Amino acid sequence: MKTHRIAVIPGDGIGKEVVPEGLRVLDAAARRFGLGLAYEHFDWSCETYRKTGRMMPADGLDRLREFDAIFLGAVGYPGVPDHVSLWGLLIPIRRRFEQYACVRPIRLYPGLDSPLRDPAGLDLVVIRENVEGEYSEIGGRLYQGSEGELAVQESVFTRRGVDRILRHAFDLARTRRRRVTSATKSNGIIHTMPYWDERFAAIAAEYPDVSTDQFHIDILTAHFVLRPGRFDVVVGSNLFGDILSDLGAAVAGTIGIAPSANINPERKHPSMFEPVHGSAPDIAGKGVANPIAQILSGAMMLEHLGHGDAARAIEQAVESALGDRRLHTPDMGGRATTAELGAAIAGAL
Ligand code: NAD
Ligand code: IPM
Ligand code: MN
Repeated sequence: MKTHRIAVIPGDGIGKEVVPEGLRVLDAAARRFGLGLAYEHFDWSCETYRKTGRMMPADGLDRLREFDAIFLGAVGYPGVPDHVSLWGLLIPIRRRFEQYACVRPIRLYPGLDSPLRDPAGLDLVVIRENVEGEYSEIGGRLYQGSEGELAVQESVFTRRGVDRILRHAFDLARTRRRRVTSATKSNGIIHTMPYWDERFAAIAAEYPDVSTDQFHIDILTAHFVLRPGRFDVVVGSNLFGDILSDLGAAVAGTIGIAPSANINPERKHPSMFEPVHGSAPDIAGKGVANPIAQILSGAMMLEHLGHGDAARAIEQAVESALGDRRLHTPDMGGRATTAELGAAIAGAL
């Protein structure tokens, strides 16, 4: 039996509450399927920052390099500016380990209400470019304190970066319903977005068996609400993919169920698995956070590590728990606690 080495970073806020439930379910899956999972815990967080002035030690990335995967909760908490905490931990991991493909599946679960009038057929995957685009360090602020003060933020779209995420989306579509939708904004953003469209057309030509369409991001958000069932794989830049993944989670019922995989498809470096949601300071410490996004992120991790059977068993256990409204946390309209729901899912395994 091969033992997979997993770096566990609970992080901040509800990350510390949902990660233990994620591990509880992973352990249950490991027992049932005879998997070896060895965890090493890292307490890197905003608390670490307040104590040490760093989100992680200077050699933090080197220490993560040797793991087979990273299992992360959430990063960011009031008291430390978000751009400091996120650029001190989460974003460097995504970048250093070339986790350029952010995979965020969204679907309906029986037993969980969607806020939409017509959610029928909602079953899509947002593929988000994860290491370039609008998230860039290029720019700056000038003339601070004067009336002329200004801030400039550049976006970076490289041919290598755009082509590889588009191919990732098309490859995934071939395993699904063979449709790729591109999120763009080439009417307003006149350099990078027309470039993205051009590369989308070029890559689409390599996949004649996959049908395509494209929408400006503004109307695409409307279609997510009004006709979500028409989408299969939706590919977008770092920022657009970020926005679409929260929207997608919400239309499926709650942000508390949406998992995410930050993948290095070449498997040269560890990939990272974390919920779409953040540290939720408004409910942190109450024990009521929905652990399902974290648990399903664990399923994506097992899938990535070659244990599709265990991943699907976790999904089934989540489905069976969702069928019982007494196990719903407050974001799903219920009164269950994080631990009650986590234990029930582990028990169903
Ligand atoms: P958030 O996702 O943390 O919370 C948004 C809302 O959704 C809140 O009302 C919260 O209570 C609710 N929510 C989120 N997850 C939930 C869950 N599992 N169960 C029940 N309710 C849940 O977004 P935010 O408020 O914009 O961000 C808070 C902090 O988290 C910020 O510091 C932000 O930068 C950070 N953040 C981190 C990540 C990450 O680590 N990947 C992702 C998003 C936000
Ligand atoms: C996410 C988060 C992060 C992102 C933030 C916290 C930097 O919103 O993982 O979706 O935008 O990538
Ligand atoms: Mn986000």
